[in-house]
Amino acid sequence: MEILGIDIGGSGIKGAVVETTTGELVTERVRIKTPQPSTPEAVADTIKALVETIGYQGPMACGFPARVINGTVLTAANIDKSWVNVHVESLLKEKLGNEIFVANDADVAGIAEMTFGAGCGEKGKVLIVTIGTGIGTAMFFNGELLPNFEMGHIILNGDDAERYCSDAAREKLDLKWKEWGKRFNEYLNRIDFLVQPDLFILGGGASKKFEKFKEQLHLENARVIPAKTLNLAGIIGAAVYCERRLNNEATH
Ligand code: BGC
Repeated sequence: MEILGIDIGGSGIKGAVVETTTGELVTERVRIKTPQPSTPEAVADTIKALVETIGYQGPMACGFPARVINGTVLTAANIDKSWVNVHVESLLKEKLGNEIFVANDADVAGIAEMTFGAGCGEKGKVLIVTIGTGIGTAMFFNGELLPNFEMGHIILNGDDAERYCSDAAREKLDLKWKEWGKRFNEYLNRIDFLVQPDLFILGGGASKKFEKFKEQLHLENARVIPAKTLNLAGIIGAAVYCERRLNNEATH
């Protein structure tokens, strides 16, 4: 099926139509800056502009950078605080006049990576970690998603982990990849201690630089590999998620 997938990020809102059987994009990827402040109205208007630019009609889905349960946004670490308790699916449906499903951004990126990327065919516990403005995590067990697994906010050295070792933290503190890699290694080891995944797949912006920090990562048992779908994961995963929701194969 050809479905529009949308990825809402802290700096950009991106979308493209995806063929869900192959994960390939069938239209150009369009990117519009995330409005500031990123209030519900402003973001909904931007999504409308994106859908019109692509010229798409039909059901669609988007990855959203917060915990989303039953279509309602429950947290707001890196978006405007006024999103908390907004029923984002109804808001967007009203604005766009089309069916639109919304899930956590790391969860949909994880779906893309497990379906078409580095996680394809991987069994056991797989944790996808997206490293960007925030840290997103998506946990899969034998290929099944456990939604809203928010491990970007564990406490590390007395602070929220994403303030300690997200890509935004690296930029803000002007850390060299080696220094940042050491911090990120602490983070992965802490998660390893808590939930012991068999495999970590690193996605998001920083994953493109995997070669620059992989030497700093030392885990006793788990493997750590970079994602393959890179910055398209959110778009591809959203389209696949939409198809699953249409077929009643996905929970919120
Ligand atoms: C949010 C997560 C999100 C991640 C990546 C975190 O701050 O709490 O829900 O997946 O950022 O955007």
